[in-house]
Formats: sequence, structure tokens, C-alpha cells
Amino acid sequence: SLNIKGKDFLTLADFSSEEIKGLLEKAKKLKDAHLQGKTSSPLKGKILGMIFEKSSTRTRVSFEAGMIQLGGHALYLNSQDLQLGRGESIADTAQVLSQYVDAIMIRTFSHEKIKELAHHATIPVINGLTDLYHPCQALADLLTIQEKKGTLEGQTLVYVGDGNNVAHSLMIASAKTGVNITIACPEGYEPDPSVLKISKEFAEQSGSEVKVSHNADEAVKDADAIYTDVWTSMGQEAENEQRLEDFAKYQVNEYLVQKAKKDFVFLHCLPAHRGEEVTAAVIDGSNSAVFQQAGNRLHVQKAVLSEIL
Ligand code: CP
Ligand code: NVA
Repeated sequence: SLNIKGKDFLTLADFSSEEIKGLLEKAKKLKDAHLQGKTSSPLKGKILGMIFEKSSTRTRVSFEAGMIQLGGHALYLNSQDLQLGRGESIADTAQVLSQYVDAIMIRTFSHEKIKELAHHATIPVINGLTDLYHPCQALADLLTIQEKKGTLEGQTLVYVGDGNNVAHSLMIASAKTGVNITIACPEGYEPDPSVLKISKEFAEQSGSEVKVSHNADEAVKDADAIYTDVWTSMGQEAENEQRLEDFAKYQVNEYLVQKAKKDFVFLHCLPAHRGEEVTAAVIDGSNSAVFQQAGNRLHVQKAVLSEIL
């Protein structure tokens, strides 16, 4: 097994290429076992506390189902119902919950908050999405590319849209595993410069490339996989109208994907807005793997849980 017991899972930047590949390997085994109806209970008696400050369908249900399938238990904790919602500090919450549960998964806004939680908790903390990163999603994305293409190394992934949390984790995940990645985005919506910098460093070690482009047509030409995400992320609702305008030329539609390789795979972390970042013809078309991708959240998270706990 991997040597990551007790570790926090806040960003893939904290994990080596070997550890990431090992987690994917483990996820594949867990998926096969699950599909064959085989059960085992490596996390018997373990409890995961799941704090949500934002909505969720996939993350919430796949973490809870995953814990149960591994023989453990999960608690859904809406932050508004916790004293956290009335101003109790993250530090105090971390120290209290550490006495009750074996790990905490949190979906929150600022990445600083999850770092603070992890700092004060004596148990592992898992990132279920922050404004900066979505590492569980990126692991599922890699597993899906691996399944569809047979390999990761040398594949080219083109992410069209906002340089957001999903894009950031994809950049790191790709750079760590030898996938070439281009972020095609409007000016002003580039990925965070510090994330770009570390991704380029990781890519140098794996022999892949990380690029930013402002030309989606040009960028998708060599794509083995095309990825997009919503234009307005949770917490950015006030910017929605401006974003609809700014991203108009970055829709993943029939015309854009015609420029990619014929066997490109379409990916989207979901939830999707058909008619905005992607058209129905693409997301519901034969190149789309979005539901396989969503399904893979379960298996990669079970891998993370069983290796960390
Ligand atoms: N992709 C993803 O994280 O979905 P949810 O917001 O439904 O958890
Ligand atoms: N970028 C999106 C992803 C949702 C899963 C958001 O943060 O809202």
C-alpha cells in the first residue's frame, strides 16, 4: 500500500506522481471489486464527518456511499446547522470534531480555511472543493481518461473555460502524471499564477506541458480530451451576467469539437448548464464520458479514504 496514512488530502500538489498513480491503481481495484459485487470492510468502525458550506450532489453522495461500502459511516454536517454557522471558530471546531470522528471532509470557500482546519485537526482533512482546488474531481478525471485512452502519459487535455478550482486541480493532476494540458480561457480568467507556476514545475519533471491560450479553436486541435466547467462557480453568482458575456466565445459546441481529434473524449465535472458552457449535442453526444466520470468519483474517493484512514 501507499505510505500516506494520516495525511491530509488538500491538494494533489502534496502528493508525488507515484502516490497519485498508486491512488488511481487502488481506485481501479476498488471499482472492479464493486462491479463484481465483492464487499470488504477495511474502514469498519471509522466515521467521516462531512462539512458542507456549499451545495453538492456528487461529492456528498459519493463520499457517504463510499464510506458505507468500506464498512464505515459518514455524517452530513451542514455548516449552517453547526455552531460554525453562528461564528464558532474553525480552530475550535477542528479540535472538537477530532475527538468524535476519524476524518473530516469539507467543502468551503477560501482555501485558507481548509488549511486552518487541517492545522488544528488531529485527524486527516479531505478537500471536497474550495475556491482554489477540487482534487477529488481531478483524480476521477484522470481515472476516466486512463479508462478511455488506456494511458495517461502523452495524452493532451484541453480545458476550455474559466481558470477556476477545477482547472487548477486538473493542471496539477495532469502535470504530475505526464498529461499535456492547455487551459483555453478569455483574458482575465486565467488560472492563478502560483498554480500555473507549480504546475509547470511538475510538468517539467514528468515531461509534459502546461499551457494557457486565449484561442479555443487553436487549442482543441490536438485534444485527446476536451473538458469544460461552469462559467459561474458557487459564490460568484453576482458576476453571472458579466461572465455569460465574457465566456460567449468559449462554448464547447459542435463547431468547436469538429476541430479536435475524431475520438476525443468530452469531460465535465457536472453540474452542467446546457446551452452555456456546453451544448446538449456535445455533452449528450457519443464522445461524452461525463457519467462514467461522475461515477468514478466514488471509486477514487474510496481509494483516498482507505489509504489515508
Ligand atoms: N462535481 C462535483 O463536485 O459535483 P457536486 O457539486 O455535485 O458535488
Ligand atoms: N467550479 C465549480 C465546480 C462545481 C463542482 C464551482 O466551484 O462551483
